[in-house]
Amino acid sequence: MTESTTDPTTRQALDSTAPAAATATAIDPTLATPFPQDRGCPYHPPAGYAPLREGRPLSRVALFDGRPVWAVTGHALARRLLADPRLSTDRTHPDFPAPAPRFANANRRRVALLGVDDPEHNTQRRMLIPAFSVKRINALRPRIQETVDRLLDAMERQGPPAELVSAFALPVPSMVICSLLGVPYADHEFFEERSRRLLRGPGAADVDRALDELEEYLGALIDRKGTEPGDGLLDELIHRDHPGGPVDREELVSFAVILLIAGHETTANMISLGTFTLLRHPEQLAALRAGGTTTAVAVEELLRFLSIADGLQRLATEDIEVPDAGVTIRKGEGVVFSTSLINRDDGVFPRPETLDWERPARHHLAFGFGVHQCLGQNLARAELDIAMRTLFERLPGLRLAVPAQEIPHKPGDTIQGMLELPVAW
Ligand code: HEM
Repeated sequence: MTESTTDPTTRQALDSTAPAAATATAIDPTLATPFPQDRGCPYHPPAGYAPLREGRPLSRVALFDGRPVWAVTGHALARRLLADPRLSTDRTHPDFPAPAPRFANANRRRVALLGVDDPEHNTQRRMLIPAFSVKRINALRPRIQETVDRLLDAMERQGPPAELVSAFALPVPSMVICSLLGVPYADHEFFEERSRRLLRGPGAADVDRALDELEEYLGALIDRKGTEPGDGLLDELIHRDHPGGPVDREELVSFAVILLIAGHETTANMISLGTFTLLRHPEQLAALRAGGTTTAVAVEELLRFLSIADGLQRLATEDIEVPDAGVTIRKGEGVVFSTSLINRDDGVFPRPETLDWERPARHHLAFGFGVHQCLGQNLARAELDIAMRTLFERLPGLRLAVPAQEIPHKPGDTIQGMLELPVAW
């Protein structure tokens, strides 16, 4: 089943739910396309990115403060540049491009993995890779299934209707990452709220305070684990022998922060936006239900189609020639990767606007590429496969409880997803 059901009327109706203006306000749009922008329809790239799709793999865009940076939109170039060590991910660098003013202070802090370049990054990553291997994640599948079943039992007892983000999409990955790390899920309201503030603000002070509070909370937890070991990944990192000696407390805290946040926010958004998208594509949903494809295949195409982490950031530490675009990225310039456009490069994904279970989608860049490619992708795939399959199997009559255009989605300067998702069945 390959036909898209997204006709212009739907787009227009959905567009009306989004704030009309781009996130950036102080930019003369005749100079450069503002980046990032809010999506009109939550599952399509912003209409305002149209000038970036005119055949070039690289364009000039302007950040919220008018700073010009390069936006990569071509698939082949994105793979090349994401694998290029001359593009740094060190967020403490004063020139590192921030997508919104609220990240100004947070960008001065050290972030494990995602904020560290090789070789230090490689040392960190090697410590964590075993916990996210296919084998270890497969062993977690029964526990993930149990979590999904329990949450759907509760939802069925209390509804219909239900608000799917709070009843299902958020608690599934949140419970799973807590149990994987050894963080008590009983504290989920505390860290989910900080994580929300960290990713969506509203202001720089909120982001800063949220980070302080999360670090304090996880630091205290790590101290307790020093004397009362449990059986999570944090315990393993504290008590296991490492070739370079014990991991210091500061590094442990920063691992815990990134794993806890990345581990629940992203997958939660994929579940909510993936469900919304399937409910807006009845033909594709029917094909999936009829066994025309597996959920794992559908999840891969949804990852491509939705590209929820849209706007990866890097800083050039040397001049980089890009002959196919006829430009040189200068040392000190910022580079952003629009995964929503990269994953709709029609040279790689024919008819990219169509949600198509038949296409080979696996080489999408929704999880990034190169050394920083998502560490948790095996976990995310397992969670999405189990959560989406079980949700639609258990609730065959699942539908939106209110008109689609009334359902709010997230602004363009953060991970994309639904703010809430009222459903009935
Ligand atoms: C559908 C869900 C997810 C999506 C779409 C996603 C997306 C991404 C992307 C695009 C990157 C690369 C960022 C860059 O290069 O700038 C990344 C990195 C990362 N992700 Fe995920 N992610 C997801 C789920 C998870 C989960 C469940 C975890 C679990 C802990 C996780 C942990 C990480 C970490 C630690 C990194 C940094 C890796 C490094 O720098 O070496 N992610 N993710």
